[in-house]
Amino acid sequence: MNFQSVCVLGLGYIGLPTASTFATHGIRVVGVDVNQGIVDGLRGGQIHIYEPGLRSLVQDALQSGQLTVSSQVPEADAFVIAVPTPFHEDKSADLSYVISAAEMVLPSLRRGNLVVLESTSPPLTTLDVVRPILEKSGLVAGEDFHLAYSPERVLPGQILRELVENTRIIGGVTEASARAGRDLYATFVRGEIILTDATTAEMVKLMENTYRDVNIAIANEFSRLADRFGVDVWETIRLANRHPRVKILNPGPGVGGHCISVDPWFLVQAAPDLTPLIHTARDVNDSQPRFVLRMVQRGLGNLHGKTIAALGLAYKPDVDDLRESPAVEVIHLLVNAGATVQVFEPFKPDFVIPGATSHPSLDEAVAGADALLLLVGHQQLRELDPASVAGLTSARIAMDCVGGWSPQAWRAAGFTIHRLGVGKDPR
Ligand SMILES: NC(=O)c1ccc[n+]([C@@H]2O[C@H](COP(=O)([O-])OP(=O)(O)OC[C@H]3O[C@@H](n4cnc5c(N)ncnc54)[C@H](O)[C@@H]3O)[C@@H](O)[C@H]2O)c1
Repeated sequence: MNFQSVCVLGLGYIGLPTASTFATHGIRVVGVDVNQGIVDGLRGGQIHIYEPGLRSLVQDALQSGQLTVSSQVPEADAFVIAVPTPFHEDKSADLSYVISAAEMVLPSLRRGNLVVLESTSPPLTTLDVVRPILEKSGLVAGEDFHLAYSPERVLPGQILRELVENTRIIGGVTEASARAGRDLYATFVRGEIILTDATTAEMVKLMENTYRDVNIAIANEFSRLADRFGVDVWETIRLANRHPRVKILNPGPGVGGHCISVDPWFLVQAAPDLTPLIHTARDVNDSQPRFVLRMVQRGLGNLHGKTIAALGLAYKPDVDDLRESPAVEVIHLLVNAGATVQVFEPFKPDFVIPGATSHPSLDEAVAGADALLLLVGHQQLRELDPASVAGLTSARIAMDCVGGWSPQAWRAAGFTIHRLGVGKDPR
């Protein structure tokens, strides 16, 4: 099929790069968002999200006239839906954005169009949720118009490159719909394009993130076992990984972000009777901040009257994204246990956690502290020189939740070092 025009619904981390990339590859694109502030901002050339290279890509696309933005869905050859899929309080998927986006497409849907859902979604969403809405048009999916699911697997920080280079899975409600999806994405994808059915494509995305979550959970459980049995989890993992078929991931204070800590719940909710392992892995990772709290209490005793410099808040190293971050949860637990917590997050220095104080610099955060607590392996925190830090603080206890600090170097600078998953006596 030949696509002249595409409408992308949702201009966030996924939709905006996708819309701009289509536009810079010869397709006329209308980007639609329900947030009027985003639409107005983009019309004025303002880009509301940070992603390396995105600003100039969007500006090129807008200036060429190939990309326009709107709050209304126009007619187009293809519609790409990239709206959020968060979860409710009870961990069930919140499909309200997907439903409203499909309803917005409905009046513009014409015979011969293609609709692609990209949002991470529970199994059968394309068939059982999106298809019936679009078929209210009187057109039949797979016959009168094409419908497909294509998961987005880009890594924040690398989105522009991975959008083009990653292998792309396209699942159609029919084989012809999958082929139509391939024709659309082939305009810019240089990676392999693999065709399958819609529900398989939905499962692929959920299985990828669930695999990561379960594997981190076992690493976290190993950290607890190592702690109990007086060994060093980092050393045991390193040695176990010398086995040719073992690849244990690293433990840490938990799992965060809006994908890995969310998507496994979509499978648990969709089939609770079949997912005890996935459910337990989620519980293990969600409870890991409590394990960190116990480690801190063991090192410092009663936390009332103690001051802790908490270093890092993001859900993973070297990003500014704090969504579902376990580091934030650790700080809540420390505050509730009576500690005074002084926070330093180099990527979001102003972020406020109730009960804690945020500091714009390391010097201020560590001043007057009783202990330093490394919660995120940001490069600049891993590379701290313990001798210099010793000159900034009276603290002589260092606690490392991410395996980021050399115990020898910190001991040499006069610190007692406690490390997550290390049950050997700290010195
Ligand atoms: N961000 C990532 O790294 C990433 C990676 C893989 C998959 N995903 C998935 O992609 C989807 C989108 O994620 P995101 O990070 O781009 O979200 P986002 O929150 O950054 O952006 C979504 C945008 O959709 C808009 N929106 C909501 N309802 C709409 C509607 N009916 N019509 C038009 N616009 C609407 C919102 O205003 C928002 O601007 C989610 O399902 C997410 O799980 C994200």
